[in-house]
Amino acid sequence: MKIYIVDDEIEIRKSLRNILEDENYIVEDFANKKSLLKSLAKERPALILLDVWMGKDDGLEILDECKKIYPMIPIVMISGHGTIEMAVNATKKGAVDFLEKPLSISKVLDTIGKVLSRDKNEEIPQIKLEYDQIIGESPAIKKVKFEIFQASNTNARVFIYGENGTGKELVAKSIVMNSKRKSNPYIEINCAAIPEELIESELFGYEKGAFTGAKDKRIGKFEAANTGTIFLDEICDMSLATQAKVLRILQEQRFERLGSSDAIQVDVRVIAATNISVEDAIKEGKFREDLYYRLNVIPIVIPPLRDRKSDIPILIDHYMKVAADENSVPVKKIDNDAIQLFTNHFWPGNIRELKNIIERLCIMTIGDTIKGKDAKEALIGFKKAEEIFQQGDLKKAKEEFERQYIIKTLQLNEGNVSKTSKILGVERTHLYRKIKSLNIQIDNLSD
Ligand SMILES: Nc1ncnc2c1ncn2[C@@H]1O[C@H](COP(=O)(O)OP(=O)(O)OP(=O)(O)O)[C@@H](O)[C@H]1O
Ligand SMILES: [Mg+2]
Repeated sequence: MKIYIVDDEIEIRKSLRNILEDENYIVEDFANKKSLLKSLAKERPALILLDVWMGKDDGLEILDECKKIYPMIPIVMISGHGTIEMAVNATKKGAVDFLEKPLSISKVLDTIGKVLSRDKNEEIPQIKLEYDQIIGESPAIKKVKFEIFQASNTNARVFIYGENGTGKELVAKSIVMNSKRKSNPYIEINCAAIPEELIESELFGYEKGAFTGAKDKRIGKFEAANTGTIFLDEICDMSLATQAKVLRILQEQRFERLGSSDAIQVDVRVIAATNISVEDAIKEGKFREDLYYRLNVIPIVIPPLRDRKSDIPILIDHYMKVAADENSVPVKKIDNDAIQLFTNHFWPGNIRELKNIIERLCIMTIGDTIKGKDAKEALIGFKKAEEIFQQGDLKKAKEEFERQYIIKTLQLNEGNVSKTSKILGVERTHLYRKIKSLNIQIDNLSD
């Protein structure tokens, strides 16, 4: 089991390392934030011991950053003389415990032992949801399912937080489908996808002649969702003016269509979601704090995939079956090297990314087994495509696509350039030039 020690004092790092190594823990130590974050991007330790007072790096800030990467990771703060108050603050921010300097061996081992065993058997009631599309057996997912169960039994508002592709829409739908409102309207709105000037008319509707172009009266989403549920996805993208109106609906269950002064009464349950930090959005003045408190009655945090690695093999298995089913072909096998690589991947795009890669591999892999090298190639290709996508460079994106396309066609034809050029409909010499300019390397290239 690996434990990280983060402290700017070398003496503390040394003594903690000695204590822990004597107990057969594997230890890594870090003197600053930068080296810590670099390492966290590669692996998830079982526990982090973090100094509250780190010289130029603020321990509480580091705590926040660790929690952003691994929301479920247990962090124990180390506090020196006069910093106990900070350590207490840290527990409010999600640290599980704190140790006071000078450190005593028994206290250190006792605290770590307790935290690790608590982490392992965290008691989450096992429940069976009637409607359940969520795959995973990690404690983190069990917790999410339990929260869905609790939320489903009420009409309380729910605020879902999770990175891209973690399953926010899936969780919202699960809440609705397990609730008494399941047969009533369910309306999903992606606030980021609607232009700001249209969002009010989308949500609240309008009367004929309310603005140029309003030829007929139109009912808004809140009215359409009456007696049911509305899902406001990417809510932090809503303008402040619209937020004020939504706040009023939450307070009074009433609103007016644009161009009308008649209040319309509705009974709508609201579920909201975001993939950015609401705290930051509030600090930057982009999101109303009062709206946040109104919405955040039941918060559900979906941890990123890298923070619940035990679910990865189960999800791979599931998506292999889905891919086979959709393409009417036998289910492929996957070897341990590939599973290992996928389990240790950082998955910035979470389950959506995993799903795409598995589906693509099921279609493109030659033979009946996905091997380590196939997984490696797919992950590199994906990362490259992501980077290019983020840069927004169309030329590079086209080139990368062309490169992947040629590689795959060559592989399908055992590296034979003549055959491949025929299939691609280009001259052989042209294909050779492409292979060179796109830096394509294939072991078994033949004429
Ligand atoms: N636990 C899970 N089990 C099975 N499938 C999942 C799970 N979580 C997510 N998925 C699938 O992953 C994909 C992405 O999920 P979803 O659209 O709900 O994510 P999201 O958090 O809304 O993403 P985004 O922020 O990009 O909108 C969907 O195809 C969904 O069915
Ligand atoms: Mg979504």
